[in-house]
Amino acid sequence: MQQDLAKKAAGEMAATFIQPGMTVGLGTGSTAYYTIMRIGELVRDGLQLQAVATSEQSEQLAREQQIPIVSFSEVSRIDIDIDGADEADEQLRLIKGGGGALLREKIIAAAASEMIVVMDESKLVKQLGKFPLPVEVVPFAWELTFKKLTELGAAPVMRKKDNKVFITDNGNYILDCHYEKISDPAVLHQQLNSTPGVVDNGLFLSYANKLIIGYADGSVRSLSR
Ligand code: A5P
Repeated sequence: MQQDLAKKAAGEMAATFIQPGMTVGLGTGSTAYYTIMRIGELVRDGLQLQAVATSEQSEQLAREQQIPIVSFSEVSRIDIDIDGADEADEQLRLIKGGGGALLREKIIAAAASEMIVVMDESKLVKQLGKFPLPVEVVPFAWELTFKKLTELGAAPVMRKKDNKVFITDNGNYILDCHYEKISDPAVLHQQLNSTPGVVDNGLFLSYANKLIIGYADGSVRSLSR
């Protein structure tokens, strides 16, 4: 598929920024998949690195690819984090969490010296918000959190998978919040994260240093902060 070619081009290009000896954050999703696969090839060709993963799914893929995964107690720094996004604007602000991994993704992005975002061209937007914003909430009294978010204008929808409530790797729920347009992402981020019951939300406003955007013909371009 053409979109796959775009994701593959972006995902693989990002791996060229990895230097020997680095600790790498492995992202989650169908674009980060191509980065992990490429890193696997590089490792099997002799590149020395170590990695931490942003989800159980990515950790499993990395292990299958023989990428050395280390525990967080063994890591003194994360040099580079390579992850996907659901939307990005030209100021390199992101919506993430379409795959439900936003919390682990944000912890790793915040700890990394550099974050490279890999995506196909459809993710680049003028204004964030068309993609429903994932908000991770604790299961306890989630109905009250849901009500609070509704009062804040979020139009939340409980995420389900196979007709069952979707549970994150951290044992929480995701409420997908529909805005259409987010006019002030920083204010919204603050408002959501100061609501009791909310663990975090999918706005990543200050982490990305570079976007690598893949196109259907297999070309890429990048935007840097
Ligand atoms: C995972 O929770 C997400 O943040 C992904 O990074 C994001 O959804 C991008 O995924 P795709 O590359 O599959 O579109």
